Amino acid sequence: MGTTRGKLPLSVITITLCGLAFVLLLYTERISFSSSTVFGLNKSCARRNAAKKSSADDRKEDTGALSYAADDRFEFDPEECSLVHGKWIFNRTIKPLYSDRTCPYLDKQVSCVKNGRLDSDYRHWEWQPDDCMLPRFDPKTALRKIQGKRMMFVGDSLQRGQWQSFVCLVESVIPEGQKSMKRGRLHTVFKAKEYNATIEFYWAPFLVESNSDVHIIADPKKRILKVDSVAKHAKHWIGVDILVFNTYVWWMSGLKIKSLWGSFENGEEGYEELDAAVSYTIALKTWANWVDSNVNPNRTRVFFTTMSPTHQRSADWGNEKGIKCFNETRPVKKKGHWGTGSDKRIMSVVAGVVKRMKVPVTLINITQLSEYRIDAHSSIYTESGGKLLTEEEKADPLHYADCIHWCLPGVPDTWNQILYAHLL
Ligand SMILES: *[C@@H]1O[C@H](CO)[C@@H](O)[C@H](O)[C@H]1NC(C)=O
Ligand SMILES: *[C@@H]1O[C@H](CO)[C@@H](O)[C@H](O)[C@H]1NC(C)=O
Ligand SMILES: *[C@@H]1O[C@H](CO)[C@@H](O)[C@H](O)[C@H]1NC(C)=O
Ligand SMILES: *[C@@H]1O[C@H](CO)[C@@H](O)[C@H](O)[C@H]1NC(C)=O
Ligand SMILES: *[C@@H]1O[C@H](CO)[C@@H](O)[C@H](O)[C@H]1NC(C)=O
Ligand SMILES: *[C@@H]1O[C@H](CO)[C@@H](O)[C@H](O)[C@H]1NC(C)=O
Repeated sequence: MGTTRGKLPLSVITITLCGLAFVLLLYTERISFSSSTVFGLNKSCARRNAAKKSSADDRKEDTGALSYAADDRFEFDPEECSLVHGKWIFNRTIKPLYSDRTCPYLDKQVSCVKNGRLDSDYRHWEWQPDDCMLPRFDPKTALRKIQGKRMMFVGDSLQRGQWQSFVCLVESVIPEGQKSMKRGRLHTVFKAKEYNATIEFYWAPFLVESNSDVHIIADPKKRILKVDSVAKHAKHWIGVDILVFNTYVWWMSGLKIKSLWGSFENGEEGYEELDAAVSYTIALKTWANWVDSNVNPNRTRVFFTTMSPTHQRSADWGNEKGIKCFNETRPVKKKGHWGTGSDKRIMSVVAGVVKRMKVPVTLINITQLSEYRIDAHSSIYTESGGKLLTEEEKADPLHYADCIHWCLPGVPDTWNQILYAHLL
């Protein structure tokens, strides 16, 4: 399997299937904006947040003018509004900004319509936070925000999905000849020439170094992670203006993680087998230390996408007869639904590590909103080993349905809508 694709090895999927593995990881991001004007609109949130504001937010004196919207939700403000709590609203009139036929940059893995998916409702849901309105993604505004900048998504195949989503969301407004895509084994660069901007992807599924980065080792038992080393990857992150990280699903093989620190050169036998959450903690701290000592927060914004849930166990959402996410066409309604594909320990590791960092990291907390979306995975409309599933394979969803990755257009567009809102 080619590294550039970075598709999750089948073994991981199989183990996940066996109920041993829990979650995928996505990217979470949190950056705090200095601009108090969100999207050019006046905020109407001061009223409901008057109390909070006085203590937590003395910096934001300049919120001045208020305009009261008809409903009492206010325009998104990263410091005032939690995007975590909300609901999916079906709206047939919403059209995705691209399709897998119009955007030439999508992998087979996520091109569900091309791969035969006929139902389309999953493309018409909009995330509505309880307290505020999430601005719609405007491609030209997004491009202006990254003008003259390098933006880089770093992480695993879910992060690659988010990166592809971002590229596809903006690419249609860029004329032919003004854009290019240069694909590399680990590092791929989309360039918007007239904006002198790049939207890049860097493959580092664990963020830290491992023996399975360049040549993926299918058997998770043979993977060894160098949990105290990140420099080989991180040297490619230097000078980037907007960094968006994730790491999650690769830790969820259900096995202990062979973790090595010190020197790889002295042999790989000196590893310790650590519980995934323990190994993850060390690795994330390694990443955090790198960020704290190498990133200038005046120049660079850092985001981290939280775990992307997997939906391997239909009993989690009460469909006892279901086969993973196969054939699901509607999101879970139950508020606060949380399945076995999201690991709470990992979530608290991320929260704890990020909180103590010197450099502000904006979390893009996509876990809860994605948990509801059992209908939006690639399922059988995907590939295996670089080829679309055959009819026989499609008829065997237990083994072939991919309930880890997401169709594009789809849920990762909403993750980018959140990222976009933070960039405004
Ligand atoms: C914001 O409020 C000010 C003062 O009330 C007003 O002049 C301006 O037009 C408003 N801007 C928008 C985008 O509503
Ligand atoms: C659905 O989307 C359309 C187009 O953006 C918008 O005008 C309309 O208000 C939305 N309807 C609901 C119920 O949110
Ligand atoms: C283009 O952007 C890069 C940073 O990504 C910057 O170094 C360079 O000066 C910019 N060039 C122009 C012509 O704006
Ligand atoms: C960032 O900017 C602030 C205020 O301008 C300054 O005090 C600080 O030293 C800067 N930090 C770095 C790392 O350059
Ligand atoms: C999947 O859903 C379709 C349409 O609802 C139904 O006809 C079909 O029997 C379902 N397949 C399985 C295997 O449940
Ligand atoms: C993300 O939101 C969930 C609530 O859905 C919360 O439990 C979790 O702690 C948040 N994650 C982080 C890393 O802050």
